[in-house]
Order: sequence, then structure tokens, then C-alpha cells
Amino acid sequence: MLNRRNLLKAAAGAGAVGLFPWERVTAAASESAVAMGDAAPTTPFAHAMPLPPVLRPSVSTPTADVYRLRMAESSLEIVKGLRSTVRTYGGSLPGPTIKAVRGRKAIVHQTNGLAVDTAVHLHGGHVRSEDDGLPMDTIAPGATRTYTYPNQQRAALLWYHDHAHHLEAENVHMGLHGQYLITDEQERRLPLPKGRYDVPLVIRDARVEADGAFVYTRPSDCPHLLVNGKERPYFTVEARKYRLRVLSACVNRYLGLRFADGAEFTQIGADGGLLDAPVTRDSMTVMGGERVDIVVDFSRYRAGSSVVLENTLAGGGERTEVLRFDVVGAAEDPSSVPSLLSTLPPVPRADVEREFVLRTYPQMTINDKLYDPARVDVRTTLGSNEVWTVTNAEPPIARPDFHVWHSFHTHLVPFRVLDRNGRGPGPDDAGLKDTVTLAPGETVRLAMTWSGYAGTYLYHCHQLGHSSSGQMGRIDVVAP
Ligand code: C2O
Ligand code: CU
Repeated sequence: MLNRRNLLKAAAGAGAVGLFPWERVTAAASESAVAMGDAAPTTPFAHAMPLPPVLRPSVSTPTADVYRLRMAESSLEIVKGLRSTVRTYGGSLPGPTIKAVRGRKAIVHQTNGLAVDTAVHLHGGHVRSEDDGLPMDTIAPGATRTYTYPNQQRAALLWYHDHAHHLEAENVHMGLHGQYLITDEQERRLPLPKGRYDVPLVIRDARVEADGAFVYTRPSDCPHLLVNGKERPYFTVEARKYRLRVLSACVNRYLGLRFADGAEFTQIGADGGLLDAPVTRDSMTVMGGERVDIVVDFSRYRAGSSVVLENTLAGGGERTEVLRFDVVGAAEDPSSVPSLLSTLPPVPRADVEREFVLRTYPQMTINDKLYDPARVDVRTTLGSNEVWTVTNAEPPIARPDFHVWHSFHTHLVPFRVLDRNGRGPGPDDAGLKDTVTLAPGETVRLAMTWSGYAGTYLYHCHQLGHSSSGQMGRIDVVAP
């Protein structure tokens, strides 16, 4: 547990300001915080890392695949030897992966078998407003709603997660999140690692009590880090290249990921699919909602050796291990990373400029307003090319341990990061993005075109404790 001394040590020692702003700012989390007992001990590498199940269509037509999912409470083993009751899509955490092919529709019937309202948002999806899972378009307990996803967008790892008004942080934390993978011809033709060498890593934090109870609370009280639903697992890999699709489903924390030996990896994609060219990196910062698509070459390791993926932004006293890769014998590897991965759409030139300021004090706001589903904050026209300047207003108290990070996410369309603090995009900003990180005081400029569908959409901080508390706005896209 954090005490004041650890807190200061963490803030001073980690070089990452603002590790523990959570104590004050995740109102939703504190409101629903239950009386906690002792967390179960965290024991790294006690589980093999599972792969999320793949959802099978219940019907396939020449143009569409039809799926059925039921949200329900499920009892799962997340920490070794304990059973935890979580909220799931289809009985697993993370929920099953929906594999979509560009040009084929996916129709998903979602039944709410839980006792709370839900709304299913496809994060990164280019979909009609009525299929976007808006906060007020909820599915009542016992009801079913059908979402239609056209899949007329480039190959990318998206994810579906809860978005019910004021409930999204708790519902997602309690397990309502799953992957949605779109593939296309262009990507399939590339010689990248495929099949069982293309692996999702869904990373998130959790708190499991000594008796197995799974609770939603502040991230500084969440000592368990899960990959694909198991606490700090190990994964056996062959000595060859793997494509790892990192998705952070953390609700209120951000991760700094690197290999413990400092090994380099190649980033090939971001939120909105493949980059134009690969980038060599040795660390990354990942906020809840962001996806980072990387290729790691394990042939550099001897058979029998291991390498640990660690979290450089673990809190004071927290474990840093995330996942251990155990390398077994050499394998054939026909895969490679081409120097040209994809063609990104041209960066739009702005017809319209807008500004957004994200504030923590006195409340979680955007442009000093709390989210109101009945208020239109931005009205724009279909086809509008825009540049949005988004700032994380520094809190008025100069205390390193209370600086609050935010992020910014747009529904319907992705964006390009034009610059960060006036200096060109940062290392985490490459490619098409739909969620960006904003450290205290930072400003990013984002370019996007509001295309495809007219209707009501959202933009918000993807620290879901913040959006649940009101750090969200409504954008209405109208036909010209
Ligand atoms: Cu991933 Cu509006 O959310
Ligand atoms: Cu925020």
C-alpha cells in the first residue's frame, strides 16, 4: 500500500512525474471504492499467457457475419488459485476477439445479462452514430441491442468496450472489453509474422483481494497487472520474429513498456493500423485505449533463456514485471518487416481550427464543461478538415506528485498528430491515432477529417475515470 513516503519516492525516483495523481482525481473510482481488505499477493509468471478466444459467427452470409454475445458475470481465475467474479462479454476476460475482414459487415447482437446498464462502443470503428454505443444508448439488463459494423476501413486492431453514461470506467475495469481485429488484402500480402506468430497482448491492471474478490478502485491500489486476463504470465515463444499487438485496456493508468535487457523492437502500427514505415524503438508509453503493433525478434535469445517485458511506470513498491517470454528452440522464419508497410492517407489541411483544454481542477472538464449528453459542444459538417489543439492544463499546484495525465480520444475518425509542444510528433505519436497521451502541460495538434457518417459522436479523455466524471464532449456531424 502506498504511504506518503513511497509516494514521494515514486514521484522523485521514477523520473515520470504524476505517477499517483489518482488519489484525488478518479472521482468515479473513489465513489465506488469498496472497503478493501488485503490484496492477494502478486506472484509473477505463475500462469501461461492464454490467447483470447476467437468469436465464431452464428451465421455467415455472402456479405456479413452475424455474432451473438452475452454480457454476464463470470467466475474466472485471474490470480493463481483464486476465483474472481468479473463482468464479461461471452464469459472470458478479455472478451472474445471478433475477426473482421474489410468489406464484410459484422452484425453483433449484444445481450445484457448483467444487473447494470451497458453500451457497447467499438473503439476505432468507423460506424454510424446509432451503432457507436453512445452513453445514453444503453442496453438495459435483460435487453438485446444489435450493432452493425461496416468494416469499410483499413486493417487495424480495434477494441469493443463499455460506454454507458457514468458507468464506463467501472464496467470496463470489471471486465467489459474485447478485441476487434480488421484485416485486409493489402496487409495480408505483407511478409509480416502471421497466424500463431501474430499475438494480442491485452494489458491492464486489477485488484484481486486475498479472497478472490475483484474490485474497482484507484490504480495505486491495483497491484495486479494482467496480460490477456492472467496476472503477469509467461509466454513460450520460438526463437524467431513475432508480431505483438499491444492494447492497453487500463482504465486509469498508463504504462511504460520496455524489455528488461533494453532490447530493441520494431513498431509497425498504431491505433489506426500499419505505419508507412517501421520504426525502431526500445520503449513506449501506452495509455488506456492505445494500440501499439510491434515486431520482436526472439532469435537473438538462446534457447532456454527468457526476457521480461517490464513496466517502467509501476508505482512505488509495485512489481515491474509484466510478461516473461520463454524462448525455446530455433524456428524457421520466413517473415520480414518490409521498409514500406502501407500508404497513409494524406494529412488533411485545416479548414477549421478548434481548441480543447482538459482540466483536472476543480472538476474533470473539457473547455471548463462537464459532459452533458443533451448539449452539442462541437457542430461540424461532413467532410470538414480540422486541426484540433488539445492541451492538458497544468494543475495550479506545483507538486510533482499531483500532476495529472490526460489523454484524448475521438470517435468516428482517427487523426494524425501534427506536433507535440510545437516540436513535431513524439515517439508515441506515429501513424494514424485515435487516442493520444497528454502529460501535464502538454499540447498536441491533431489533424482529422470528419468523414463517413453524419450524426452524434464523442471526444473524451480515455482515462475512463475522467470521462465517467465528465471529461467528455459531444460532436454532431451534419450533412453539408
Ligand atoms: Cu475507447 Cu469513447 O472510447
Ligand atoms: Cu483525463
